[in-house]
Amino acid sequence: MPAPSAQRLAAIAARRRRLAERIAAAGGGVVIVPTAPERRRNRDTEYAYRFDSYFYYLTGFTEPEAMLVMVIGNDAATAQSMLFCREKNLEREIWDGFRYGPATARETFGFDDAFALDTLPTKLPELIGNQPALWYALGYDGVQDARIFDALNAVRAQGRSGVQAPADVRDVRTLLDEMRLFKDTVEIDSMRAAAVISGRAHKRAMCATRPECFEYEIEAELLHEFRRAGSQSVAYNSIVAGGANACVLHYVSNDAQLKDGDLLLIDAGCEFDGYASDITRTFPVNGRFSGPQKDVYELVLASQYAALEHARPGQTYDTTHDAAVKVLAQGMLDLGLLSGSLDGVLESGSYRRFYMHRTGHWLGLDVHDAGEYKLKGEWRALEPGMVITVEPGCYIRPAEDVPEAFWNIGVRIEDDVLITAAGHDILTIATPKTVSDIEIIMSDVDDRR
Ligand code: GLY
Ligand code: MN
Ligand code: MN
Repeated sequence: MPAPSAQRLAAIAARRRRLAERIAAAGGGVVIVPTAPERRRNRDTEYAYRFDSYFYYLTGFTEPEAMLVMVIGNDAATAQSMLFCREKNLEREIWDGFRYGPATARETFGFDDAFALDTLPTKLPELIGNQPALWYALGYDGVQDARIFDALNAVRAQGRSGVQAPADVRDVRTLLDEMRLFKDTVEIDSMRAAAVISGRAHKRAMCATRPECFEYEIEAELLHEFRRAGSQSVAYNSIVAGGANACVLHYVSNDAQLKDGDLLLIDAGCEFDGYASDITRTFPVNGRFSGPQKDVYELVLASQYAALEHARPGQTYDTTHDAAVKVLAQGMLDLGLLSGSLDGVLESGSYRRFYMHRTGHWLGLDVHDAGEYKLKGEWRALEPGMVITVEPGCYIRPAEDVPEAFWNIGVRIEDDVLITAAGHDILTIATPKTVSDIEIIMSDVDDRR
């Protein structure tokens, strides 16, 4: 990825300042945030590299083998941010491409200092000696943990010279998760870009789908649209699930042939400048919903609209889910999927046979993003700057007590929603969603049948 814009770097520096203020208020200490390791896929081939989300949030730096260290006293204004990264290496750069090296990284990204990563074994003990606390995500990565333990032991070995090791190791994620929950304007711009690209990809998938083609052909359309628009990656493995496969919630094999008369459920989103989008659309393979398909689709859509009414400040995180469940449960009764009363279905949870997941999650650098859902045991309030998904569904597997007309219908509708002071802003609004929008778009393709 190219170097971040000045605006992004300013937003990132502001995040480091906010973190420093919180740590100073908690007594100060040293923050250590390493980036993600490279991972071998097979023999001498690596998985596509993805930086660690916390590290990127605080640095904007995308090279592997790097670590952020912040030394924070009682006064946040004097906090020092240091980057440890790979040295320049002209030989390796011929093979693998450009590396910033500490000096250029410091200057470009605005750190107070930067060092070669191989100085870490001597520098880290110096930095953590006599500090009150280490703020580090212990247990997340064993290799990084070993580095930290080595540094702690190196400090402890100097005990007789009067140098003390930090008395506390505290999880820096408790502070960072809360910060990441509230997106700044630079983050919202990236999320909007990701959402727009993914919406276009879903539209393209609708136009490309026809009976007899394979799920992977449609996956290829999505990937082409993601990449040609400059997104760096998928945000998660795409689900392209025709017919009964739509009732497998994490279906990712994407290798079946699509049948005339079936629905196709696509859950796919790209990652843009580190930020995820997460969209699900469900549409008919032949371009026209059958009666029972339309019944289920309209039900899920109505439940999504009900949930969206609660996606605003003053509501709690679970009210979107409760609103969706209420509409879905009533619809299941109306369609003959369940029997009894609405209260009975809600009380017993029998609707879970057809709707077994929650209605959404935080969205950001990670598709299931950081942040607590409950505070002191209570579902937390929605606030401006949070981004959630709203994604009700209905999945009907064949069974004797279920009307056959609905067998193997699986529908999910998922949008990405920014909570604003006035209510909400649907970042994925441009993705076709109503029955008529979808049928019109698909009817424009003349050689479908
Ligand atoms: N695509 C993952 C999810 O919807 O949660
Ligand atoms: Mn989702
Ligand atoms: Mn999804």
